[in-house]
Amino acid sequence: MFKFFQEIFNQKMPSGSTCSLPDGIDYHCHILPGVDDGFQDPSKSLEQLRIYEASGIREVWFTPHIMEDIPNEPEDLRRVFEDFKEKYLLDFAQRHPGSQASGAEGAKPSSATDEEPLQLHLAAENMLDALFERRLKAGNLLPLAEKYLLVETSIFAPPMNFRGLLERIRNKGYTPILAHPERYLYMKKEDYEALKAQGILFQRNLYSLRGQYGDRVQKRCRQLLKWQMYDFVGTDLHRLTSAGLNTEG
Ligand SMILES: [Fe+2]
Repeated sequence: MFKFFQEIFNQKMPSGSTCSLPDGIDYHCHILPGVDDGFQDPSKSLEQLRIYEASGIREVWFTPHIMEDIPNEPEDLRRVFEDFKEKYLLDFAQRHPGSQASGAEGAKPSSATDEEPLQLHLAAENMLDALFERRLKAGNLLPLAEKYLLVETSIFAPPMNFRGLLERIRNKGYTPILAHPERYLYMKKEDYEALKAQGILFQRNLYSLRGQYGDRVQKRCRQLLKWQMYDFVGTDLHRLTSAGLNTEG
């Protein structure tokens, strides 16, 4: 369904700018401030979103960690998200007087810009640990676009009965998206193939291809691209970054 890999390099965005994220969508980032090991200062998060706008990105999924070490409650995250979204829309309106986001009524003045604010969404990056098992049972989760769940494992080893757990997620009506499979060097080609055969979707980290996680992950990323296994791309941004958002490679 989401086969983006064919045109990942220098993809032309509708805005006319060149963006490294297919369709101008970031499916994975830690920009929502103060909720995990990602951005802490809301002003830096706003600055990052301004960089996104300038890079041709149009839509951002905030995916804060939920894991035993960072046991965010979905309800708390929703509240922080709504507060921050309001801040962002205010910031955008101040930078674009006359835009719809500024709340001006009636026809746009002739000086009005056609630029629109980023579409912001909330989901989560779920570590497949004991907390996740409890939350899955209770139905206390933050899915991505209602039917997907972004999940991760330790980079050292899979959880016990990994594929069984993925099947239980599917039985609850969600399609698992495995975050950055290129980072799981414990996997072999046949492991990836088994997951794909099980209907698991893969999300590539934008910066894996640039070597951010080392040579071995970079190489694995190239292999997964060659095997055409990726379905989504995300930045997994934790810090203010401008490099590489316009072009990739
Ligand atoms: Fe992440």
